Amino acid sequence: MYGSIWCHNLNLSSRNLAIALVVCVTLVYFSYSFNACILASISRSLQESTLSNLLMLQVRNDSDTVATVATAASTAIDVVATNASANGVSTATNLSTTASTIDFSAGLASVDGAPKYQMLRQQGLRPSRHLPDTLIIGVKKSGTRALLEFIRLHPDVRAAGSEVHFFDRHYQRGLRWYRHHMPYTIEGQITMEKTPSYFVTKEVPQRVYHMNTATKLLIVVRDPVTRAISDYTQAASKKADMKRFEQLAFVNGSYSVVDTNWGPVKIGVYARFLEHWLLYFPLSQLLFISGERLIMDPAYEIGRVQDFLGLKRVVTEKHFYFNATKGFPCLFKSEARSTPHCLGKTKGRNHPHIDTNAIDRLREFYRPFNNKFYQLTGINFAWP
Ligand code: A3P
Repeated sequence: MYGSIWCHNLNLSSRNLAIALVVCVTLVYFSYSFNACILASISRSLQESTLSNLLMLQVRNDSDTVATVATAASTAIDVVATNASANGVSTATNLSTTASTIDFSAGLASVDGAPKYQMLRQQGLRPSRHLPDTLIIGVKKSGTRALLEFIRLHPDVRAAGSEVHFFDRHYQRGLRWYRHHMPYTIEGQITMEKTPSYFVTKEVPQRVYHMNTATKLLIVVRDPVTRAISDYTQAASKKADMKRFEQLAFVNGSYSVVDTNWGPVKIGVYARFLEHWLLYFPLSQLLFISGERLIMDPAYEIGRVQDFLGLKRVVTEKHFYFNATKGFPCLFKSEARSTPHCLGKTKGRNHPHIDTNAIDRLREFYRPFNNKFYQLTGINFAWP
C-alpha cells in the first residue's frame, strides 16, 4: 500500500515537472522572439540613420576633407555591414567588402545638395556595388578624363576612380572581381567606368555585350592627327630618348608611307574599331562626344551626355569656367561656385612642334577613314 502511494506521488511529481518544463520552454521561446524583434528594429533604424547621414554629407574635394570623409564613410559602411550581419541580411557580403577599396574621393565629392536628391537618398535606399551601366570606352587622348570628371559632377553618377581595365587585362578575374571595383551606389544612380583602351581592343565589344547587352557606351573623339601627337607627347614624357614624332609616324624616313602599325597612328582609324563595336551594339546605344567641343563648350557636350543617360540636366554652364593659365575649361564642384578644380598637369600638355608636311600627309591619310566614321556615326566632326 505504501508502495502504491509512493508510486502515485512519483507520477504526480513527474507530471508537475513536465508541465513546468513546457511552461519554461514556452516562456523562453516568447522572450527570444520578442528580443529578436526589438534587436532587428533597433539595428534597422541605426542603419538608416547612418546611411542617410553618410549620403547627406556635403563634401568638398580638397584633400583634407576627402581623408576625413573616407574615414567617416568607411566607419559607416562597417556599421552597416555589422548590422546587416546581425540581422542575417544577405547584403552583408556586399557591404563587408574592405572599405579601403572604395573610392570615396570620387563619388561622394560630387554629391549634390539639391533637396530633391537629398530626399531621394532619405528614402532608406541601401548602397551596394553594381556592374557598370555605362562605359567610357575611349578614345585615348581625346578628353576621356575631362568627360568623366565633368559627368561625375552629377549626383546620380558614380564612377570608378581609376581605369579598371577589366575587359582588356583582367577579364579572367570574372565579373565578381569587376563589381568589387565599382563604387557604392543607391537606387537610381548610374555606375560608370572609363578605360579608353576598350575602344581599340578586339575582344572587348563581345565581352561587354555578354555582361549586359543594354550597356551604354560613351566615346570621345578628336581629330586623329592631334590625338596622335597628344599620344606621342604623353609617351615622350615618360621616355627621355624617344625618337621624333616624324620618324615614328612614317616608314623609311620619308613622309610617303604612313606607319599604320605605330599605336598613335593606328588608334586614329576610328571607323575600323567602330565597325567592330557595331556588330554587337546598335548605334542608339553609343554616344559620340566631340573632344574639340568638350574644350570649347563643355556644358553643351555634357548636356547631350545627360540627355543620353536619361538624367536631369544638373551639370550646366554654371559648373564651368575657362582657366586662362591652364588654357582649358575647369570646374566648379557645385553651382555655389566653390572649389575650382582643373584637371592635372598630364592633361593639356604642350605639344612639340611637328613638321607641317608631316601633318598634311597624315591628314591626307586619315581623310577617307574620317569620312567613313562620319558616315557610320551620322555626325560630321569637320576635322581638317
Ligand atoms: P593634351 O594633353 O594632349 O592636350 P585623355 O583624358 O583622354 O587622356 O585626354 C587628354 C586630353 O584631354 C588632353 O590632351 C586635352 O587636350 C583634353 N582635354 C579636354 N578637356 C580638358 C580640360 N578641361 N582640361 C585638360 N585637358 C582637357
